[in-house]
Amino acid sequence: MTDTLRDNATLHIPPNLTVRRSYDGEGGYQVAWGQGSQREQFVTHSPDLAACLATMPSDMSTDAATARLFTELGIDEDAAAKLVHDLVDYGYWSLEPAPLTLGEQRWRDVEWDDALEFHMATRNMIWSHDYTGDPKVITRYHVEHNVQPGSDPPTPYSPTVLTTVDLPEPAVPDVDFRQVVRKRRTGRDFRSTSINLQDLSTLLAWTFKPQFPAGQARYFTSQSYSRGAPFTAFVITGGDGAPTELESNFGVYHYAPERHQLGLVRRATDLDRLDALLWRQSYVNHAPTMLVICADWPQFSWKYRFSRAYRFVYAECGAFMHTALLIGTALGLKTFQTPAIDDQRMCDTLNVADYEVGPIYMAAFGRS
Ligand SMILES: Cc1cc2nc3c(=O)[nH]c(=O)nc-3n(C[C@H](O)[C@H](O)[C@H](O)COP(=O)(O)O)c2cc1C
Repeated sequence: MTDTLRDNATLHIPPNLTVRRSYDGEGGYQVAWGQGSQREQFVTHSPDLAACLATMPSDMSTDAATARLFTELGIDEDAAAKLVHDLVDYGYWSLEPAPLTLGEQRWRDVEWDDALEFHMATRNMIWSHDYTGDPKVITRYHVEHNVQPGSDPPTPYSPTVLTTVDLPEPAVPDVDFRQVVRKRRTGRDFRSTSINLQDLSTLLAWTFKPQFPAGQARYFTSQSYSRGAPFTAFVITGGDGAPTELESNFGVYHYAPERHQLGLVRRATDLDRLDALLWRQSYVNHAPTMLVICADWPQFSWKYRFSRAYRFVYAECGAFMHTALLIGTALGLKTFQTPAIDDQRMCDTLNVADYEVGPIYMAAFGRS
């Protein structure tokens, strides 16, 4: 590399270079680039260096790079040359151009720049499962040995509630599976629909209460990559068709699977229509219940200590929702599902912070 640099090689900036204020709260700037396990980042407290690295042209000669650092940072020529050398070694500059591919460019064309940055940062991560010695955390990332966390898994999310409602024993829907999968369709009219507490009990238990193995259930009906309690569920009531045991309009309940109870988190008196939570998709108005599935981020991230696992949540959440939709259909309920949620409004309604309990997917249920 040293030889190539002596030849005044052309240096290239990686396509996903980002320079931003660091999260350290100490006025630093984070400079990051590279993909997956090759990703690198450092924090500098020099605004001049941060600005200089953020504004380098995509391609430039080694001499020009050295001259620029020399001029803009006020360091001597040898120090500037060494800095260029170190930045090449570290991957800030590469000797091969790495422009966006046509496919990646397409993400930018539709303004998916942020998603592209995240996608690139988390792809090609090298990690593995390591079950040796029955560890608490089986995933191994970037290290020779499985490094175990110093803490136990966080307890599943459990908000303070105003009152609780015990749910009846869930039913075992006695229906033909073929009929259920054929019957499940997205409904978009919930006028004059209702749901009773027994329906809700069955829906919530089969979806969110561990079912297997009998006696000491740890596993859910849905395939769940993360064991533990990856998701937490809320029910928001709407209209007159809600179970009579619950607040009728916009009562916000959290489901506690271990006690099979609903806990009233709040009465959402600031809500006038359910579609206010969905950027005005009016299909859900008049639905007696809205189910909201949220990721319990501390639970999930405690186990998966690499950011690529952020992608797993969505795969897993889809499976939980599909179970809810099939159970709802088996009970003869109409269903409508979407992840097109107004995040802020939903978090305010559920009284959660989305980095802790993140609303991901919602569905409305009601029987005609
Ligand atoms: C991830 C996802 C997001 C959806 N978002 C919406 C939505 O925002 N609005 C809507 O009307 N339908 C939405 N749907 C419903 C689809 O339009 C519907 O599933 C599709 O038309 C197929 O119809 P079916 O569910 O009756 O089989 C969504 C479905 C899925 C799986």
